[in-house]
Amino acid sequence: MTGLKSDERLQGNELIIEAIGDFNKEQSEENALHITMAILKRIEDDGCMIAPIQFHDNAGNPVKLNALTEEELVKLQENDDLNVSVQAVSDEQTMTDWLPVFTSYESYHKGDTTTVMVHPLAELMAIALDIGLAGVMIDPWDDYALNIPAESLASIMELAMEPGDDGDLTLIQGDITKMDIECIVNAANNTLLGGSGVDGAIHKAAGPQLLEECRTLHGCKTGEAKLTKGYNLPADYVIHTVGPIYSGTLKDESQLFDCYWNSLDLAAQNDIHAIAFPAISTGVFGYPKEEACPVAIDAVLEWLNMNDDYGMKVAFCVHNNEDYAMYRQHLDMILGEPDSER
Ligand code: APR
Repeated sequence: MTGLKSDERLQGNELIIEAIGDFNKEQSEENALHITMAILKRIEDDGCMIAPIQFHDNAGNPVKLNALTEEELVKLQENDDLNVSVQAVSDEQTMTDWLPVFTSYESYHKGDTTTVMVHPLAELMAIALDIGLAGVMIDPWDDYALNIPAESLASIMELAMEPGDDGDLTLIQGDITKMDIECIVNAANNTLLGGSGVDGAIHKAAGPQLLEECRTLHGCKTGEAKLTKGYNLPADYVIHTVGPIYSGTLKDESQLFDCYWNSLDLAAQNDIHAIAFPAISTGVFGYPKEEACPVAIDAVLEWLNMNDDYGMKVAFCVHNNEDYAMYRQHLDMILGEPDSER
């Protein structure tokens, strides 16, 4: 209908549909758990679902748009004069608003058609929680429809965002500010006084006390790291490190390596045993992701090997499907574990 990526991107939703069907047949705790596990697996696997969206101008007036290709949609989302938000549906009985998500186009076509986007399920769930919806409705027009109330959503998200207990190194796609982990790393700048990107997101989520503490640190050199509390974040601590502004010289790699190494050292000096990194320098600082990814993984693996008696759990928290696929591929290549086992 909209020329967005075909249903192949939505494969793997069958597990969720099957689990919902089993649960509707027998509403046991075990079947409910199967739904959660199927959803967690879908999130881990890059869980994209279809969600209806609407565009409005800066005055808040709805802007009706025809069917969009994915390229047109991405361009429109970059257009500052237009805002995009998800379209909620109301449940007349309970008078509450829910976020509908569809596991396939044929499920979606059973209801009203509008503009849609294919988006990671984890982020759609986070949006539903952020805007205070009652929860998420999976395939609302189908007879196997399932409503996941906000409180269950929060626990599914928490499970999805916690690094797995197995192994020292995990890969997660999502918003690092939502991670319930001992320490998250901030991709800061030399002033440590905040900015956009992940720096902006962390300061926004942590609250003003973070900036107050950062002020006492008097900046941070590129490649170095400094520690603060996490304040309103679920994380107890934030380690602020400053990545290199990409210059295309050899210095880039050694400074980026130092960011991961020094952050891990600082964490260990403070008896921290679980830490999550964003993809440092690959946003505003322009470090090409495909070059930065192996440097990040090498630095972390080398530190873990050198300190294997310390017991540090590390999570790479990437923010989109492309980064997830890239890190997944590099990790499987370096760790030599076939996809199916991870
Ligand atoms: N959770 C996880 N990752 C995120 C999040 C988030 N909430 N927000 C952004 N990212 C990802 C981006 O997609 C990118 O891959 O973090 C990576 C780093 O991007 P930036 O935040 O732009 O950081 P960096 O490239 O290191 O530039 C740092 O940007 O925000 C300013 O003050 C900061 O001046 C500093 C510069």
